[in-house]
Amino acid sequence: MSQHFQHDVLVIGSGAAGLSLALTLPGHMRIAVLSKGDLANGSTFWAQGGVAAVLDDTDTVQSHVEDTLNAGGGLCHEDAVRFTVEHSREAIQWLIDQGVPFTRDEDADPEQPGFEFHLTREGGHSHRRIIHAADATGAAIFKTLLEQARQRPNIELLEQRVAVDLITERRLGLDGDRCLGAYVLNRATGEVETFGSRFTILATGGAAKVYLYTSNPDGACGDGIAMAWRSGCRVANLEFNQFHPTCLYHPQAKSFLITEALRGEGAHLKLPDGERFMHRFDPRGELAPRDIVARAIDHEMKRLGIDCVYLDISHQSDTFIKSHFPTVYERCLEFSIDITKQAIPVVPAAHYTCGGVMVDEHGHTDVPGLYAIGETSFTGLHGANRMASNSLLECFVYAKSAAADILSQLPQVATPVALPDWDASQVTDSDEDVIIAHNWDELRRFMWDYVGIVRTNKRLQRAQHRVRLLLDEIDEFYSNYKVSRDLIELRNLAQVAELMIRSAMARKESRGLHYTLDYPHMLPEALDTILVPTTYVD
Ligand code: FAD
Ligand code: SIN
Repeated sequence: MSQHFQHDVLVIGSGAAGLSLALTLPGHMRIAVLSKGDLANGSTFWAQGGVAAVLDDTDTVQSHVEDTLNAGGGLCHEDAVRFTVEHSREAIQWLIDQGVPFTRDEDADPEQPGFEFHLTREGGHSHRRIIHAADATGAAIFKTLLEQARQRPNIELLEQRVAVDLITERRLGLDGDRCLGAYVLNRATGEVETFGSRFTILATGGAAKVYLYTSNPDGACGDGIAMAWRSGCRVANLEFNQFHPTCLYHPQAKSFLITEALRGEGAHLKLPDGERFMHRFDPRGELAPRDIVARAIDHEMKRLGIDCVYLDISHQSDTFIKSHFPTVYERCLEFSIDITKQAIPVVPAAHYTCGGVMVDEHGHTDVPGLYAIGETSFTGLHGANRMASNSLLECFVYAKSAAADILSQLPQVATPVALPDWDASQVTDSDEDVIIAHNWDELRRFMWDYVGIVRTNKRLQRAQHRVRLLLDEIDEFYSNYKVSRDLIELRNLAQVAELMIRSAMARKESRGLHYTLDYPHMLPEALDTILVPTTYVD
């Protein structure tokens, strides 16, 4: 018999969303927070630019709402945008109270007490409203929240635990649909353990790893989206994959982002001959929303047959660059690029999953007892293109509202009955891991080539054909062999890729991040792409 655990709340994911939720719940609740790698495994640790919020007296909720709606290509849910932005100040105050060391404004007048933190600017924002910790905001937030969580005896932090699938009443053949916990691979023992919980939270991050080139860490495989889908949850708008315009282009630099805050502080995008080009594409130039900038770069790279464009901030002073962008400065220097003197070679790369598991204002999914928060969820905030630095904000705001909802439901929700073990009786150890590695590579390559920044019907059809073949092969493999982290991730990635392709094929227009040569115009009516699971495979 494998190990069984019982908690009030099972949080799958230890990033901004998962840790915030765990810390917001009261100390009498037993909480497990899982991470499939080490605790810093998610995107949160790597976030650079900051968190968008209405903090300055000259800024307004209305202005932040309007900027978000504009960036979102007409597809944002205005109620979700307003809800998020209205709670932004409170979310930042909570982070400050936890001890996050945000960068202070050196020019703030000590005689005039007010807001003392530095605010930077990013694409799509009409105000300076990004609070940050230099250019390593995610690391500062993550370390602070982790330190807080470590001091809470009711929170168990469990590393190297990979959730395989959710346990639902339906899966067990019981009456009802409720989520009762999850089966989780313990990577140290190789056993699949059973976690029972009164409430289960997917805080598993995004799925940008589905693409060959990405700014995301290795774990961004869409596990939460795939698990929720298999358990009967609807997903929405998965065709909107955000490509960040500026990732470092260097053969040895894997996944390194050059923060948009550089452009916010005046960096110019240039062609190899030094010509600036963004004003040919948008009057906002380098500060146009990301979909426009990434498409412009892609267009210029294809037009000129070049491997990259350049981002140049060398006209700012050395002191300014080194104090505002120490991480970018150091990292580029490792590749012999001195950003105080030289332009940085950059290319777009997959960065953010705007769609996800459909949730309401409290993070409820379609399955009772199951919540989704953070990048894995679809709240309606981002529409067809997420505005910079609204993602971390969404994590904090929805973590808090989900926690409040859990508390209000606590008295009515009993501890689940004894749950059955994971059934591994029909499987053996794999001696064909090469198939996993090969399929990973193939999937990420055709997603990049056929479901990238510019799409066509033909490319999408090709991608769909290939992903279906892969899914069959992976299903067969999954039925015969013991699960491993690689196999779990590949299965989920392929599932999410299939949902992305299906969503892209359903959208017969170009809007925001979804651009297709076959339907280059935007339709008058903005509709979400909602996929409803019809069969349950768990
Ligand atoms: P993550 O932080 O990605 O955490 C996911 C967690 O889930 C991890 O702990 C992982 O181990 C766990 N997990 C996943 N699957 C499983 C499983 N099967 N079993 C167990 N555990 C699992 N946004 C901004 O707003 N501002 C920024 O400045 C910014 N900069 C960014 C820079 C980079 C380089 C990147 C990659 C993203 C950036 N973003 C930024 C986006 C933002 O960081 C993410 O959207 C956000 O951090 C997501 O947080 P999360 O808690 O939802 O997930
Ligand atoms: C960045 O710093 O450019 C990333 C900001 C974001 O993804 O919101």
